[in-house]
Amino acid sequence: MIKSVSTTPYQDQKPGTSGLRKKVPVFQQPNYAENFIQSIFDSLEGFQGKCLVIGGDGRYYNREVIQKAIKMAAANGFGKVIVGKGGILSTPAASHIIRKYKAFGGIILSASHNPGGPTEDFGIKYNINNGGPAPEKITDAIYARTKVIDTYKIADFPDVNLDRIGKDELPGGMILSVLDSVEDYTALMEELFDFGAIRNLISLGFRIAFDAMSAVTGPYAKEIFENRLGAPSGSVRNFMPLPDFGGHHPDPNPVHCKELYDEMMGDDAPDFGAASDGDGDRNLIIGRGIFVTPSDSLAILAANANLAPGYSGGLAGIARSMPTSGAADRVAERRGIGMYETPTGWKFFGNLLDAGMATICGEESAGTGSNHVREKDGLWAVLLWLNILAVRGESVQDIVTQHWQTYGRNYYSRHDYEGVDTDAANGLMANLRSQLGSLPGKSFGPLKVEKADDFAYHDPVDKSVSEHQGIRILFEGGSRVVFRLSGTGTSGATLRVYVERYEPDSSRHNIETQQALADLIVAAETIADIRSRTGRDAPSVIT
Ligand code: G1P
Ligand code: ZN
Repeated sequence: MIKSVSTTPYQDQKPGTSGLRKKVPVFQQPNYAENFIQSIFDSLEGFQGKCLVIGGDGRYYNREVIQKAIKMAAANGFGKVIVGKGGILSTPAASHIIRKYKAFGGIILSASHNPGGPTEDFGIKYNINNGGPAPEKITDAIYARTKVIDTYKIADFPDVNLDRIGKDELPGGMILSVLDSVEDYTALMEELFDFGAIRNLISLGFRIAFDAMSAVTGPYAKEIFENRLGAPSGSVRNFMPLPDFGGHHPDPNPVHCKELYDEMMGDDAPDFGAASDGDGDRNLIIGRGIFVTPSDSLAILAANANLAPGYSGGLAGIARSMPTSGAADRVAERRGIGMYETPTGWKFFGNLLDAGMATICGEESAGTGSNHVREKDGLWAVLLWLNILAVRGESVQDIVTQHWQTYGRNYYSRHDYEGVDTDAANGLMANLRSQLGSLPGKSFGPLKVEKADDFAYHDPVDKSVSEHQGIRILFEGGSRVVFRLSGTGTSGATLRVYVERYEPDSSRHNIETQQALADLIVAAETIADIRSRTGRDAPSVIT
């Protein structure tokens, strides 16, 4: 019944910012997924008889790996597995289900916003019992295990039916529970937000356009926006999840959601446009005529969260990843609440949320969320915006402009250089590191360097230290440039350059972003020598 299969280790199974991500053909190598899943189990203790949640974003290869994971969970001694119908769970819904059903942990199959399909990306990530991504201590142990693994255990029963909701006892005794993927999550959103107020707003003619990008949020968004909130049919677009996301890149930014973006900037635009990514944890927010940067969105949501029932008691604190702009810091300062700056990646927020130190968290990469789950949550951010709009009765544009008037504006942009030669990218970072001591005091045009460092995070809860989390060059007056290499890419290296200028003067809040950042962009080039080191004249993507 239970087979022990001998295997040979792969040396490239190091989890990155968010689990193990590789191209599908890499995952299709013999025992590749099995090795990684067994390495997860081998790095955990005390799960015998307990419950494991397994879900994925529906991308190509999802079903195959879910079947393997169920059989391996049975062979390794789990007592129960919960899966979403069809193997589908958005990442925030999986986090909620882990918490709600008090599971031991969960395996999430996703490569987030990366394209899907036979030659595109796939990923496996382990989440712990708080519903959040495993901390580095565990991901390091998993990686160490993958390098030496020689056997895995798998139960020898036929594929299970993922499409029938209900409970089943599998041969060997493990219980399989197939849940409606949408129900529990929708109920949670109804607890947090004033659906009556939003429904009322929509009934008065407020128009929303939500692009599900042929990815996992389609069924969730249809149920929430159209069925429960009364938005007319067609308000949710591209709502059928497809294994290849219709050939698109399911990353909700103005570049990959160009159609929606153009519509929102045009005549007769809807009042509110939004989108989410492959696995449903990212969000895009666009008002009529205005794109809201994720960093501004975090600050505005934090400043207005008390208007939603789930946050009426105020916030304990705000956390943001280091490259995210300082806009939220100003809200925290004014409210007298805690502000935490963590490395990139949601796993660093878990401790702060568990300890009750932070309530809302966010990243510049279009991730925002709260203590309701332990992942970022795209639909949550959209619903909090709608709740705020319903209560304030003002447009997105007015709310953003007033926010800048009150707190000042943090102009912000990220320049990505994708698919750069790995050695060249590492050389660029090493060169930056070697300049850290000599940069302070130097001037670049009108900008003077105040401080330069390699960001290290000291977790205030478990006291762990994470080093080399990005090079920060801080200029006098609150502007800065940050450099780091992506930890989620699957080919070559991606250099990310984050550029930010703080502008307190509201008469200067209407400048085009790249123009407002022009001198910082020049300084970044001068200091890092990006063109000659990467061979690129311009970034691949500007967000
Ligand atoms: C990127 C984002 C980061 C996010 C992660 C997972 O990681 O920058 O904020 O948490 O995707 O969605 P990176 O590729 O930069 O390591
Ligand atoms: Zn994602």
